[in-house]
Amino acid sequence: MKEPLLAVHGLEYVYPGGVTALRGLDLRIERGRKLAILGANGSGKTTLLLHLNGLCKPTQGEIRLEGQPVGYSHRALNDWRRQVGLILQEPDDQLFAATVRQDVSFGPLNLGLSNAEAGERVGEALDALHIAHLADRATHTLSFGQKKRVAIAGVLAMRPEILVLDEPTAGLDSHGVTHLLGALQQLHESGATLVFSTHDVELAYTWADHVAVFHDGVVLRQGETATVLSDRDVLRQARLRPPLLLEVAEALGVKVSAGSLSRSREALLALLRERLAGQD
Ligand SMILES: Nc1ncnc2c1ncn2[C@@H]1O[C@H](COP(=O)(O)OP(=O)(O)OP(=O)(O)O)[C@@H](O)[C@H]1O
Ligand SMILES: [Mg+2]
Repeated sequence: MKEPLLAVHGLEYVYPGGVTALRGLDLRIERGRKLAILGANGSGKTTLLLHLNGLCKPTQGEIRLEGQPVGYSHRALNDWRRQVGLILQEPDDQLFAATVRQDVSFGPLNLGLSNAEAGERVGEALDALHIAHLADRATHTLSFGQKKRVAIAGVLAMRPEILVLDEPTAGLDSHGVTHLLGALQQLHESGATLVFSTHDVELAYTWADHVAVFHDGVVLRQGETATVLSDRDVLRQARLRPPLLLEVAEALGVKVSAGSLSRSREALLALLRERLAGQD
């Protein structure tokens, strides 16, 4: 089988103090995917993501990047983080410079790029997140949603192949979610592999193409979204409810498969209206 872009084998992690967060976890991240790490609170999502760019070092197990085991030397970590960018759940944990432009240019300048090259990357990253108008704002004066986008732009300016996002939609209103997902979709279409954690089954169902269901530090099942989220046993074990859209689609007798229209809220509502109109 072809080696995935990033793979995790038998990962175990025990926090200092003795809490075991990951218990022999396996995960495959294929190039070009939108993979949701779906699990209830405390299932180990954040802990896993911290391992995906070397912020945490496994107690046991292995991580492979393009088939090669990763290293933890300063240099190996730098190379790794150039390929895999992590966006933390709290933007305040990620932003540190006085202005948006300074914050987003920090990574590229640190890569050794010239001011002009770094400036170009900053411009591109701000445009991609639709926040060019915020470039000269002081970061601490931004709203939560704006900070979140700046944090993503900062990682994007490093041009990583994989963007790893911890609960990217948490704390955003529905307008903010739509905008953020639109920006991430564009990044995905331009070639980025996206991995994001969430406890929101509806988000995973409508937006991810693959899902890994987490429970108590292991992956219960990983695979194509509609298939995995139709597995009632796995969802029950993970203390998650099936997506409402899936349940409605099934009640209407619609067959759900990869790329199925019923995975979009609008398409399902249209179908529901059609059926109701047919009963008149
Ligand atoms: N710094 C820490 N020290 C000790 N234990 C921790 C630490 N951070 C997390 N844990 C524990 O590790 C386990 C997994 O936590 P983690 O934060 O990875 O879960 P999560 O799936 O991201 O949860 P949430 O949905 O609430 O963000 C939990 O039992 C948690 O209490
Ligand atoms: Mg978490």
